[in-house]
Amino acid sequence: MAHEVRAVVARRVKQPVEVVTIEVPDPGPGEALVKVQACGVCHTDLHYREGGINDDFPFLLGHEAAGVVESVGPGVTSVEPGDFVVLNWRAVCGQCRSCRRGRPWYCFSTHNATQKMTLDGEPLSPALGIGSFAEKTLVAAGQCTKVDPAAKPEVAGLLGCGVMAGLGAALLTGEVGPGDSVAVFGCGGVGDAAIAGAKLAGATTIVAVDLDPRKLEWAREFGATHLVDAAAEDPIEAVRAATDGNGADVCIEAVGNPKVFEQAFFARDLAGTLVQVGVPTPDMRIELPFIELFGRGGRIKPSWYGDCLPSRDFPLLIDLYLQGRLPLERFVSETIELDGVEEAFHKMERGEVLRSVVVF
Ligand SMILES: NC(=O)c1ccc[n+]([C@@H]2O[C@H](COP(=O)([O-])OP(=O)(O)OC[C@H]3O[C@@H](n4cnc5c(N)ncnc54)[C@H](O)[C@@H]3O)[C@@H](O)[C@H]2O)c1
Ligand SMILES: [Zn+2]
Ligand SMILES: [Zn+2]
Repeated sequence: MAHEVRAVVARRVKQPVEVVTIEVPDPGPGEALVKVQACGVCHTDLHYREGGINDDFPFLLGHEAAGVVESVGPGVTSVEPGDFVVLNWRAVCGQCRSCRRGRPWYCFSTHNATQKMTLDGEPLSPALGIGSFAEKTLVAAGQCTKVDPAAKPEVAGLLGCGVMAGLGAALLTGEVGPGDSVAVFGCGGVGDAAIAGAKLAGATTIVAVDLDPRKLEWAREFGATHLVDAAAEDPIEAVRAATDGNGADVCIEAVGNPKVFEQAFFARDLAGTLVQVGVPTPDMRIELPFIELFGRGGRIKPSWYGDCLPSRDFPLLIDLYLQGRLPLERFVSETIELDGVEEAFHKMERGEVLRSVVVF
């Protein structure tokens, strides 16, 4: 039996999104039907609407979500009806060459639900294989990670994308440790999560770089020790000034801009690490003097989803949040209704929010 539910769909490129009624099938083998309780509005949803990801319209948007498993298909043992789960967009396969070599966080063959959700019979493309601006959504069971139900859904769901990407950029990709100096370029949801991660890991100097003074003030609340307005001063010099003239041990690029990548590259100390978590567009190029790459040493590491392993990291981070050691609730700027997504995109573009979260 198909379920008819309200959902946010982008029908055509660059057109406002619409709340419509879609059909969601019952779960088949390996799938789970999830009653969505909360879903954050992420830049990637807007990228889909703008045609920046691909042309597979109509898109069912939403992917930073938490909810309760309503039913599961044959063969599913990892979750059961009633479980409180955070959805993830990298359900590891366990069988690809990376999983087999013990590196499942790089899994090269992550999977999603096999059956399609539809709008008037037309198949929908769910954002990041999730599609959770919907009262119910169908995912692969491996996309559901069980966490402590004491966590509020609007907070827990944020781990499903940007906040996990930022925390992981610092903790997992950047391997920030006690006493490290860290510089974070771009202080949106991802960058602020990287700042919170660096603080959690014991970094002593945390430099926040952004063009927007309001974003810098929020970055301070997450743990930044130095604020750099990149519109007013040279960020490379400012990071050096904050680190005894040396540069930071770990620089995290959380914008997705080649100029900012270059700044992060040169703002590192010798043998420092550059983490690239901002997502570039296909037209972007970086150019560096080859000798600087060698001469400065260290590492350049792109970070997919913060190199997280949802089954390992989501429950752990929720526990830290419940213990008061990770201020996840600070990322929730406002809660909204399903029909507020279009307006939330505009607030995001104007830099007024870290996250607007739809609560069902
Ligand atoms: N790697 C991953 O798995 C992953 C996951 C989620 C999001 N992302 C990416 O991370 C990036 C950040 O996402 P977000 O949700 O935080 O976006 P956001 O728009 O909320 O934040 C970006 C911030 O960068 C600042 N900024 C823009 N240009 C700048 C510049 N030249 N110098 C310094 N700061 C500048 C903006 O003022 C803003 O505060 C995006 O590219 C997003 O696609 C990556
Ligand atoms: Zn795999
Ligand atoms: Zn996202």
